[in-house]
Amino acid sequence: MKNIDSFGHVRGESLFLDDIIPQQNTLFGLVFDSPKAHGILKKLDISKAEAIEGVIKIFTHKDIPGENQIGGIIPDEPLLAENEVHFLGQPIAFIVAVSESIAKEARTLIKIEIDALPVITGAKEAAAKQQFIGTPRTFNLGNTSKAFRKCDYVFEDAVFTNGQEHLYLETQGAYAIPMENGSIKITSSTQGPTQVQKGIARVLGIGMHMVEVDVIRLGGGFGGKEDQATPWATLTALATYLLEKPVKFILNRHDDLRMTGKRHPYESNFKIGLAKDLKIIAFEADFYQNAGAAADLSPAVAERTIFHATNSYFIENVRTSVYSCRTNLPPNTAFRGFGGPQGMFVIEAAIAKAAHEIGITAKEIQEINLLQENDELSYGQIMTQTEAVSSWQSTIEKFNYKKLITEVNAFNKRNNDFKKGIAVMPICFGISFTNTPMNHARALVHIYQDGTVGISTGAVEMGQGVNTKMLQVAVQTFAIEPEKVKLETTNTTRVANTSPSAASSTADLNGKALLKACSAILERLKTVAAQELKVNEEEISLLNEWVYVNSKKSSLSWKKLVAKAMLARIALSEKAHYTTPVIHFDKTKEKGHPFAYHVYGTAMITTTVDCTRGTYVFDSIKIVHDYGKSMSEGIDLGQVEGALAQGIGWMTMEEIAYDKSGLLLSNALSTYKIPDIFSIADNIEVIPLETDGNEMAIFKSKAVGEPPLMYGIGAYFAIQNAIKAYNPNYTLKFHTPMTPEKVLMSLYEK
Ligand code: MOS
Repeated sequence: MKNIDSFGHVRGESLFLDDIIPQQNTLFGLVFDSPKAHGILKKLDISKAEAIEGVIKIFTHKDIPGENQIGGIIPDEPLLAENEVHFLGQPIAFIVAVSESIAKEARTLIKIEIDALPVITGAKEAAAKQQFIGTPRTFNLGNTSKAFRKCDYVFEDAVFTNGQEHLYLETQGAYAIPMENGSIKITSSTQGPTQVQKGIARVLGIGMHMVEVDVIRLGGGFGGKEDQATPWATLTALATYLLEKPVKFILNRHDDLRMTGKRHPYESNFKIGLAKDLKIIAFEADFYQNAGAAADLSPAVAERTIFHATNSYFIENVRTSVYSCRTNLPPNTAFRGFGGPQGMFVIEAAIAKAAHEIGITAKEIQEINLLQENDELSYGQIMTQTEAVSSWQSTIEKFNYKKLITEVNAFNKRNNDFKKGIAVMPICFGISFTNTPMNHARALVHIYQDGTVGISTGAVEMGQGVNTKMLQVAVQTFAIEPEKVKLETTNTTRVANTSPSAASSTADLNGKALLKACSAILERLKTVAAQELKVNEEEISLLNEWVYVNSKKSSLSWKKLVAKAMLARIALSEKAHYTTPVIHFDKTKEKGHPFAYHVYGTAMITTTVDCTRGTYVFDSIKIVHDYGKSMSEGIDLGQVEGALAQGIGWMTMEEIAYDKSGLLLSNALSTYKIPDIFSIADNIEVIPLETDGNEMAIFKSKAVGEPPLMYGIGAYFAIQNAIKAYNPNYTLKFHTPMTPEKVLMSLYEK
């Protein structure tokens, strides 16, 4: 079915945080942040700023009644800096004024003195100085050192993948209102309402029950609002709590770009060993993750990197290690794929390197190493319902790889001003939070006495269409019209202790909880119907808002049935709880079964490089994607296409740049290019893999948010293959993004 938000979005009627009409006397917040990336805070003078008319108060760490701490996994991140600053953009003070413009003026009047300390911007640079967050993690399978001795080919190289800006259309922000007895109601643009609630309670030193977090919908999240919506909501709540006034704070784009973390850049090394027959015998990789100045979600992101370090391939001997490195950049954070893409790029780089050195195409290595049924991954999960080979073969056959490669080769023989390149990119992405305890959700369903339905879950709508999927669960279970169902806001007083909407798992977890709740009410209604119609419960079914007995229409409509149930004093509300079965993981052994299932697919990307300019276009992108049995084909296709575009952006044009002092140079859309409709391809085709789907997914409709991002990795290798066709002296490089500048240099490299 169509996304229920489309109509409102197109007409500009959907409500976002900034559309809430502020109460009278609402105050406006603004952060004063560190102008230096590292140093000792010598002096902070807010007196001039606080003296101007309209400035109500400027808060510093001294005003915090509870704990000045927002670190979720590791407590290493103060909300407001105390004696030291660790990144440029770190919040130091929170200005509250009667208008945004007065707050802005006040910001220019704050005086600060910082004694500069050395600045680290690179991951390996941090590692050399032993600047680690947490402990390194290593996954082991077989014995790589033994295995390398048996290999016919061994290749090594270094890899760099750059970060990525989330660039949600809606910047970060929150709006807090004081309620009675010191409690607060706050609307936040967050993927994690409970994270925000917990953060506020901690910083204010009050109970979570005093904080109600409400989320209408987000104008994009992409992981950037999983943990990093919390500081802004917490500052807003702090001001509301202490001033007893409504406070609104929405970051402008420049502040958002400068103050928030991004996808983690990684510096990595690999070693790959193959036998003569191209079987990959051994693979080793060391990943140096640029975590930024605080842990944030970095340890969890790091973990997913090594979970996905062998992508869709079975390799008998694997050793992968990941080091989370502390630098003086804003704390990097969750971003669609959550470390998985950084892992998968490295194995693809290793295969590209091996293919180049051996003098064959990467495809020849990829296809004979694909995962098969019952293969074991480095973390111990035994693969079942494996679709690596089937999705690969479907792409190769349905989109006629043979014909395409012949055409590409013929084109390259005929032309020297333009060269074409082709790459095949398989994906295999694990579904579940890798942190097992997070895999749970709840839903609350009310049937009102007129037969309409209200639904609350822990799912946050951020454009991914989860509300539509939730609506479908209720509509299908009760056999009623979509118009009868309303999706309520995500609210911590209705559904508590939620996991963030993340890990591609939101529809699965919340949908399964919702299905349980709806089914429980349905059972009760069936009992009422059976009594009413004097038949057995098993004979009752519902269809098109009507009760049927043994497939024969009865006298009872849905509406009447609900009214009867009400008179019979039957509960028309239900709360249900769902936890993912089967999954487990033992961190002491680094083995287990962390994922409910995996999502597969294969993309084939063709590019044409302009060898005079270094620019490129994508001629065609052909994908066979494993949706399982898609419950919302339009929404799922949108997710595949959107993720693909975002992946291609990461690989080819989105270039995060900090200078050596830790200053963000790519701080506007004029210096940070994201893909537009012309950047991808005219010729995108995505077809579903024919499969039965997976019972662990809601209605067997597999998670779809993150996996297709990694199809974008193929874009890098397609361009590289075109460069190879032009310049025989080109040395393979694995350094993203592959911008036109880099392509041009590579084309003419001697
Ligand atoms: Mo998502 S990157 O798991 O918020």
